[in-house]
Amino acid sequence: MTQDELKKAVGWSALKFVEPNTIIGVGTGSTASHFIDALATIKHNIVGAVSSSEASTRKLKQLGIPVFDCNDVDTLGIYVDGADEINPNLQMIKGGGAALTREKIIAAMAKTFICIVDQTKMVNTLGHFPLPIEVIPMARAYVARQLIQLGGNPVYRQNVITDNGNVIIDVHNLVITNPIELENTINSIAGVVTVGLFANRCADIALVGMSSGVKQVTAGDSYTIKSE
Ligand code: A5P
Repeated sequence: MTQDELKKAVGWSALKFVEPNTIIGVGTGSTASHFIDALATIKHNIVGAVSSSEASTRKLKQLGIPVFDCNDVDTLGIYVDGADEINPNLQMIKGGGAALTREKIIAAMAKTFICIVDQTKMVNTLGHFPLPIEVIPMARAYVARQLIQLGGNPVYRQNVITDNGNVIIDVHNLVITNPIELENTINSIAGVVTVGLFANRCADIALVGMSSGVKQVTAGDSYTIKSE
């Protein structure tokens, strides 16, 4: 199976977690896009969605799914989104699509975070994928200097402005042995809006698309990584 076929399989398999007459948290990226296609097939059974990006909002609306402002939603049962890397504790690197801040807000609101990934995203140690950080534009150089002190190699993502009007720094060469500590440390740098480490609020369930089928992993389960 191709990587996109695996993404499609997990995107559609997340449909079984959707409760009727509820609002669904919807993520961003190519895997989440497959989930939106699936969601559209049951759109008359749900109230609507909250969305983590302008791109997902556009697609949801095009398919006739009502999109709500997060401020108008009191409870959110599930949030379904992809990831760039996920470890055995279901901690993730996200933000490859620059939507990390809205993703973190919706993940915080949701009772259950369901991460949908293909098998290439599973790693033992986070950090091979460059860690995205959303930064207030005037703080870009200052934040980059602080990241160098943490041992990283920050690279400014050219020609990208986030949905919130900020810039992205991708940090290379980090070996993230303590994701919670690093998330807290980077979050405390002045000018950082959001770091794309989802460690304090990790996923509750991972659906992993493998050539043998979709594997469901629950936080607390141990699973082994065959290859990285
Ligand atoms: C968006 O900012 C990211 O967090 C995505 O969830 C992540 O990049 C996964 O994208 P794909 O599903 O396209 O691989």
